[in-house]
Amino acid sequence: MFFADIAPLKSLDERLRQLADMNVPTPAIERRRNLLTGLLKAVSEPSLALIRERDANLIARDIPQGWFKYLDCGYFIDHNLDVAEHLGLIGVPPLAILDIGAGAGHFAFVCTSFGHDATAIDVEAPLLEEIAAAMGVSRRIARVEPDARLPDFDRKFDLVVAESTMFNIIGWKWRGPLENDLRKPPHAFDRYWTLAQWHYLLADLIDNQLRYPGRIYFHLNCEIHHGEHRCNTELLNFCAAHGAVVRHEGGGFIDWRLTEPVTLAPV
Ligand SMILES: C[S@@+](CC[C@H](N)C(=O)[O-])C[C@H]1O[C@@H](n2cnc3c(N)ncnc32)[C@H](O)[C@@H]1O
Repeated sequence: MFFADIAPLKSLDERLRQLADMNVPTPAIERRRNLLTGLLKAVSEPSLALIRERDANLIARDIPQGWFKYLDCGYFIDHNLDVAEHLGLIGVPPLAILDIGAGAGHFAFVCTSFGHDATAIDVEAPLLEEIAAAMGVSRRIARVEPDARLPDFDRKFDLVVAESTMFNIIGWKWRGPLENDLRKPPHAFDRYWTLAQWHYLLADLIDNQLRYPGRIYFHLNCEIHHGEHRCNTELLNFCAAHGAVVRHEGGGFIDWRLTEPVTLAPV
């Protein structure tokens, strides 16, 4: 990653200048800088500037879950370029990708820029919608509910991604920038999906959404139980027992390559 800080007030021009001024010690890093520069130039800075101007007071209040951080397309596209590289999505034939809880669609933007067909699903959240529009991403509104099948998207996916998951927080909904402040109730998150509810989603993905060979890649957010940050070890162990590669860092990572559908053990 080139950018270390999240700065919602920084314009894309500032990000581009920062990039241009960076010391690039190797041709590989130079190539990555060129890739990122090209991506940032494709985003509409005037659209982002309008939001920054309109919401300046709110942005200044630095509300953790106000999502204004996502205005920093420089930072989030940089981050998602890393994710795309990690997943081997650059310079490969087009894939059908489903991004669950896609936020403002930075990952979908990166994927689309590399020729993939990305479906970005999320809940209604006007600010995220506006940021997505600045990147030319269209978010599809589809709320992931426990024990309910995802919609039929009229296609199967090669890759299903969820980055920084929140759909597994029971009862979470977008309440607007101020009300989304995690420091205030009702956001004492301590009710998360059970393993049985995860099982339902995973079985739905495997049976109804993936084509094969297929891949599921989840980067889980930490769960907060009684103020303590934890990763869902039970879920990670369950996926590992079915062949996924998992990491227990932060909230945890699940990287699951499937050559064919698997039947999940009952829980
Ligand atoms: C922490 S953000 C991550 C966004 C994006 N994946 C990223 O990494 O930038 C979590 C996202 O999950 C979405 N979300 C929360 N509950 C959801 C649900 N039940 N169904 C779909 N999306 C949900 C939120 O609106 C938000 O965009």
